[in-house]
Parts: sequence; structure tokens; C-alpha cells
Amino acid sequence: MAFIIDGKKISSDIREELKQRVRKEGIEACLAVIQVGDDPASSVYVRNKKKACADIGISSKTFELPVQTTQEELLALIGELNEDDNVHGILVQLPLPGHLNEKEIIFAISPEKDVDGFHPQSVGCLSIGEDGFVSCTPAGIIELLKRSDVEMDGKECVIVGRSNIVGKPMAMLMLRENATVTVCHSHTRNLREVCQRADILIAAIGKPKFFDDTYVREGSVVIDVGIHRSGDGKLCGDVDYDKVADKVSAITPVPGGVGPMTIAMLMNNCVQSAWKKGK
Ligand code: GUN
Repeated sequence: MAFIIDGKKISSDIREELKQRVRKEGIEACLAVIQVGDDPASSVYVRNKKKACADIGISSKTFELPVQTTQEELLALIGELNEDDNVHGILVQLPLPGHLNEKEIIFAISPEKDVDGFHPQSVGCLSIGEDGFVSCTPAGIIELLKRSDVEMDGKECVIVGRSNIVGKPMAMLMLRENATVTVCHSHTRNLREVCQRADILIAAIGKPKFFDDTYVREGSVVIDVGIHRSGDGKLCGDVDYDKVADKVSAITPVPGGVGPMTIAMLMNNCVQSAWKKGK
């Protein structure tokens, strides 16, 4: 049976460390969270982010804007928050309603306050090895692996998924750790055979229980980025956990694996932003 990488415990450790740091160093951080419209899933995420801030001692400002908010109104709010010295992080909850231009909104956030790590300057810095905010889910995966003593140096890492938020930054972070990286996507030939090469398989394909035991090598480490609600109402990932767990050496569960790490790393980015400002 595989070692279960406990994202709940590791994220809780990180949050506790941040709480201690904020208290000890007297860091006064503030995160601004903007939600446009009232998508229920987004409302849950926003509530969880506010709660995490409160637990750690980060203040938060929430802007719940009506669904009919215009591009100009949203850009004006971001402009004000960019100028506000008391705000250290700006997060616009995605997805935005269809009439808004998401790219223009992300580009408008000051890179100094881009705690999501989505701004092209943050992405560029990551790819050339300069300091900058890193997208929270892939940063959380690196932290999960490090804290579970999974060696990355020289290992074959196969990432399935090439999104701007997970797959691409994940590849850059794995390169930084000296892994040999392969990024797969919908046009990849022989996906199963490529995945079988992996020492570390990162599943971010967005399809419930897609990866069964035929995709993984004996003794490999499997990180499941997916989260879906299956027919029976239970949560599941991109990996068919029950089929894979007996074959691999370590695996993240869903829920309780990668998911909780995203908010922990967002909190880390907020604290880092405020610390840098106060330096
Ligand atoms: N929507 C789903 N995940 C995220 C995230 O990590 N950041 C933002 N801004 N929106 C999201």
C-alpha cells in the first residue's frame, strides 16, 4: 500500500508556521479579494480564503461586485487597490462572467501584488529563474513533495495538462528542482506509455478517474490535481485511486491532497508580499 501524502496535515503545518511568523515578525498583511457575480463555487472559495486569512492574522477586504459590473469598473477598482499601500495582495476570483476580458483584468494587477502568480511578469520571472509570485497549486505540489521527502533531482516527471495555472508553471518548478520534465496534452501520442516512464506523475487532465493502474509504473509517486464530483456524490480526482494506490509508492488523495495546499500557498504569497514591502 502506498504512502498517502497528507495535504490536509501539510497545509495545516504551513498555515501554523505562517501564523507564528506573522506574530513574531509583526507582519501586517492585507489581501483584497474580488468576486464578480454570485457563482456558488466561487463564493465557497472566497469564503475559505477569507477564513484562512483570519486564522493566520492576515486582514482581508472582500469586494462582492454585481454580475453586470463592467470591464471599466473592475479595472478602476484594481487601479485603486494597486495604489493602496495597505493592500499587499489582489486576487480576482476566476472565472469571471463572460462579458469581462479576463486576460486584461489579470494583466492590470500590479506584479508586486499578484499573489495568484498569473500576471505575465510573474510567469516570465518563474521561467527565467527570477523572484516573483508562483501560481499556488503548482507551488503547493512542490511543497507536498519536499515535505514528504520525495526526491525530484534527476527524476522523470511527467505532467499531464498544459494549463497556464497548473501544467506550465509546474513544468518550470520541476525544472528548477532538476527533474527531467515531459508535458503531455490532448495531442500527445501514446499517453499511457509516456506516463509509464514517470518517477513522478502529475495528473491534471481534468477527467474523473482517467488514470488507472495501466498508466503508472510500480513504485512511482502520483500527484492528483483533479477534483470532480462523481455519480454517487463523492469527490474524486483524475486518478482512479483504488486501482492505483496498491502499485505506487506514494499518492495524494482527493480530497485532502493537493486541494488544501492551494490556499496555504496563497497565504504564503500574501505574507511574503507584505514582508517584502516592509523590508
Ligand atoms: N478559481 C479557481 N481557482 C482559482 C485560483 O487559484 N485563483 C483565482 N483567482 N481564481 C480561481
